[in-house]
Parts: sequence; structure tokens; C-alpha cells
Amino acid sequence: MSLTRLGLRYPLIVAPMAGGPSTPKLTAISSNTGALGSIGAAYLTPNQIKIAADEVKKNTQKPFAINLFVPSNTKDPTPNQIHIAKEELKPYEQQLHVKIPDIQGPFDHDFDQQVEAVLDARPSVFSFCFGLLPKEYIKKAHDEGILVVGTATTVDEAILLCKNNVDAIVLQGVEAGGHRGIFDVQAEDPQISTFNLLNDCLKNKMLCKVPLIAAGGIMNSNHIKKMLNAGASAVQMGTAFLTCTEAGTSAPYRRALSKESRDTELTRVFSGRIARGIKNKFLNEMKTKNILSFPAQNTLTRFLRNASVQNDSEDYLSLWSGTGEGTLWTGSAEDLIKDLFDNVPNKH
Ligand SMILES: Cc1cc2nc3c(=O)[nH]c(=O)nc-3n(C[C@H](O)[C@H](O)[C@H](O)COP(=O)(O)O)c2cc1C
Repeated sequence: MSLTRLGLRYPLIVAPMAGGPSTPKLTAISSNTGALGSIGAAYLTPNQIKIAADEVKKNTQKPFAINLFVPSNTKDPTPNQIHIAKEELKPYEQQLHVKIPDIQGPFDHDFDQQVEAVLDARPSVFSFCFGLLPKEYIKKAHDEGILVVGTATTVDEAILLCKNNVDAIVLQGVEAGGHRGIFDVQAEDPQISTFNLLNDCLKNKMLCKVPLIAAGGIMNSNHIKKMLNAGASAVQMGTAFLTCTEAGTSAPYRRALSKESRDTELTRVFSGRIARGIKNKFLNEMKTKNILSFPAQNTLTRFLRNASVQNDSEDYLSLWSGTGEGTLWTGSAEDLIKDLFDNVPNKH
């Protein structure tokens, strides 16, 4: 099985978490401890990807992953659509004493250059979400000995990834924190749980031969055992690592995560794509249809998130979090990984 090639001590991928939480320190310590650390590189420029990968390589000799968002190929919004979306944000301009910036496309990063930077960095794993990677990139990655891992939220998406020639598939259930990996940017959320998605994929003749990685709502040893016993080759965990010392999570975001119950909801209001986050003022108030497509909405609302951090406030931040319960770990990722796997036999 292709994941075995990585020689991981633990069948765990510490999730790529773009936008701050994934730091080179978190990636390196996760890999050094025996899991697969990931760089969430979706919002990074090619040069930033190089810098992050160099930093990780300085701190670990072990395998690590770099993760990108496949562009959705939606048309950039028109100036009129941008004007309407900005009007929706006017009240926040006054509340936060900041000006809504003028935004202009193209909003997507240059994906081809990002991919080149990933391939140049030669991580052990190139992971991605939001669709399929062009086959020539998969071939290039394979030629360099890089394993390719896609993300699916339905059996149909997993089958497409399989035909796309990926080496493993992250099955992201509806419990997952952060963006949903749904291929079609406009589609409703299929809302399939991690466990059901895993079981449905394992019933499929083609998919049961590919390493399947369960992601979403996995918070402790029992959850890990349940997924591995059901047939997952590994698990991918994000939320559980958000408050580790090495994570780049901001202070107000950490506070929101530290509350006993994390009341989450699926929303498009921050970025234009469906994502799961803790309910806060902005998420509750923005009940509007005037949301730009991804990633334009993400660019438009960035000033709110920045101002929120500057004001040490949780109110306007995208507080990505899964549905998983329990107090989150605030020590080092190394101790968390060791603790999670104390009682879990290594069977990947
Ligand atoms: C803050 C945050 C950021 C995330 N960013 C990414 C990302 O950049 N790329 C990606 O493939 N998945 C991303 N995810 C989703 C994770 O890969 C994974 O599916 C999810 O964390 C699993 O659910 P859990 O949070 O309940 O563990 C993110 C999740 C969180 C919580």
C-alpha cells in the first residue's frame, strides 16, 4: 500500500490548515513525532511555499505534505456584484472603524506556479482539495517520487479521484472543520458523515484498493480506533491540533476554541465556499444571498478578519472548527500525537 512507503510511525496526517494555523513548526514537529505533518499552502505565493518548505526541511528529515486548493474556475464577479457584496458589509465598516477595500480580480493564485513550487520543494506528499489535479501534474509528481493525495466528500468524487490516478484519498465527512472539499463550488453540501463515507467507499470495488484516510470529527484514540477498525488506512485530524503550542492560531480564535461547547455551522459567508466554523457575530448576522464566489468573497472579507484579530475579538473571524467535542489540547503537538496513539495498534 502506497502510504506504507512513507514509513510513518503513526497512521495520522496532521491536517493542512491554510490561513495561519499550519506553521512550519507544527508541520515539522508532527513529522518528527512520526505522523505526517502538512503545510497548508493554498494562500501562499510560490516564493512563500519555498520558504515554508525550506523551514520545515531545516527542522525535520521526515516525510511531510504540501497542500493546495484546486481552482474552481468560476468567473470573477462583475463590478456590480462586488458593489452589492460590499454594501452588505457596510455596517461592519462602521463597527470596526476600517474601510472596506476595493477589490479586483483575478482572485485565484496562479495555480500553475504554486504547483511548480510544490514540485520543486519535493515533499513526500502533495495533497489537494476542491477537485481533480490535471493529470500532467500527477505524472510529474509521480516522476519525482511524490505521492499524490486528493480529497472527496462523496463516493462519486472518490471514484473520480481514483480514475485521476491519486495514491490515496482523504474522505472528508460533514463533521470536519474548515472548508468542505466539495468539487462543485456551487453544489449543496452532501452532508455525509465520515464513518458512512468510509463504509460506502469500502463497499466499492475500485475504492477499497486505494488507501482511504478518514477526516472529520476525529478527536481522540477511540475515534481513531473506530476508523482504523472500519478499514481506514489512516486518519487526518485538524481541529484537535488547532490549540497546540506550535499552531499559528490567533489568540481570539484560541479563546473561541477553548469554550466547552463549540457550536458550529456550515457557512459560505466568509469565503464563498462552504466551510464549518464556530458561530459568531458575523456568521449569525450575515444571512444574505449576496455572497461573492470563492475566492473573491474570501478576499473581500479579509479586512474583517484582520481587524478582528487586531481588536482581539472573535466576532468577525472565520473560526473554523469541526463538530468534535472535548477540551482541546494546549500543549505540544508531540505530546498530543503520542497520547492519541498510546492505545492504538499501528496497523496501516
Ligand atoms: C482551520 C482549518 C483549516 C483547514 N485548511 C485546510 C486546507 O488548507 N486544506 C485542506 O485540504 N483541508 C483543510 N482543512 C480541513 C482538514 O483537512 C480536515 O478535513 C479537517 O480538519 C478534519 O476535520 P476535524 O477538523 O474535525 O479534524 C482545514 C481545517 C481546519 C480546522
